[in-house]
Amino acid sequence: MRVSLEQAIAELKKGEVVAIPTETVYGLAADATNDAALKKIFTIKQRPADHPLIVHISDISQVADWVTDFPEVAVKLAKAYWPGALTLVLPAKQHVSRVVRGDESTVALRVPNHPVALALLKQSGLCVAAPSANLFTQLSPTTAAHVEAGLGQAVPVLDGGACTVGIESTIVSVAPGGQWQLLRPGMISEADITKVAGAPQLAQSASQVQNEIKATPKVPGQHALHYSPRTPVTLYTDRQALLAACDALLSANTSCAALLIGEGDVPNCKVITLSSQPKKVAEQLYSALHALDAMKVGRLLVELPPAGTEWMAVLDRLTRAGHQ
Ligand code: TXA
Ligand code: MG
Repeated sequence: MRVSLEQAIAELKKGEVVAIPTETVYGLAADATNDAALKKIFTIKQRPADHPLIVHISDISQVADWVTDFPEVAVKLAKAYWPGALTLVLPAKQHVSRVVRGDESTVALRVPNHPVALALLKQSGLCVAAPSANLFTQLSPTTAAHVEAGLGQAVPVLDGGACTVGIESTIVSVAPGGQWQLLRPGMISEADITKVAGAPQLAQSASQVQNEIKATPKVPGQHALHYSPRTPVTLYTDRQALLAACDALLSANTSCAALLIGEGDVPNCKVITLSSQPKKVAEQLYSALHALDAMKVGRLLVELPPAGTEWMAVLDRLTRAGHQ
């Protein structure tokens, strides 16, 4: 069911959930201060309660309402990248809902860079918790139609067009001392973060950093089956190997379809070819995977991007899609 901005705000104020557009992926939003509303997110997504949610705020001045520490490094990152595809994990104030935090002592915050999301936050005066608007472990939605296909028609959807970043935000935790760690790669890269932070990420295991911030947050995407199409996926680093696999499947009467990155030889099955630019690939990645999944073939053959840090986030999502 599609709703207007006004209807979306009214639903959120009533304690209902609404799928909203952001520049990364669509989110399943609820008032971040209303536990009953927040619990509906977990029920609809079939998400375990210990997976914390990202709180979307309308600007940097609201950070102080949520956290006990806003270290200088985090301030610099927020100033550089908000509104945008960066989520900061910081020590939470006592009052922050334990449902949002998944019982952690930290809270994840982001100012989204989407005109509709920002209008919703500003006009409503609400802060909304919003995980990606898909069932737990399935592909994230980058259009309103993806949300409806995944969650059904009963969930109200505020249509803001196709997402332009296309994959989920970069998540960085920052300890009170300013030490930071990348918890989930995204299109804002580790190199970008290092430059703004003025120091590399702490060369420690995630668990050590989390001890320092007196928390043990779940590393996002830790769940092996994250971002997966329903169709079984095989990953290839080599185009010729993908072509040979396609021929072998077809001669064994198994249908297949392929996702290719960049030009070159094409296999004898249905194909979606993405560009060879990381940003373009990220933007179209989930749409392509949704489309391939809808073909209902026996197997998806997915080409991995070339080596290079600029491909880290795309590689992360494809590797997870292929982990089954
Ligand atoms: O781009 C995005 O980040 C999208 C849009 C809607 O904003 N949201 C999104 O939410 O991807 P979700 O729930 O699918 O992923 C958020 C991740 C989760 O894996 C969760 O573990 C992590 O953020 N997270 C949330 N709060 C955290 C915390 N306090 N500590 C560590 N990780 C946290
Ligand atoms: Mg998600």
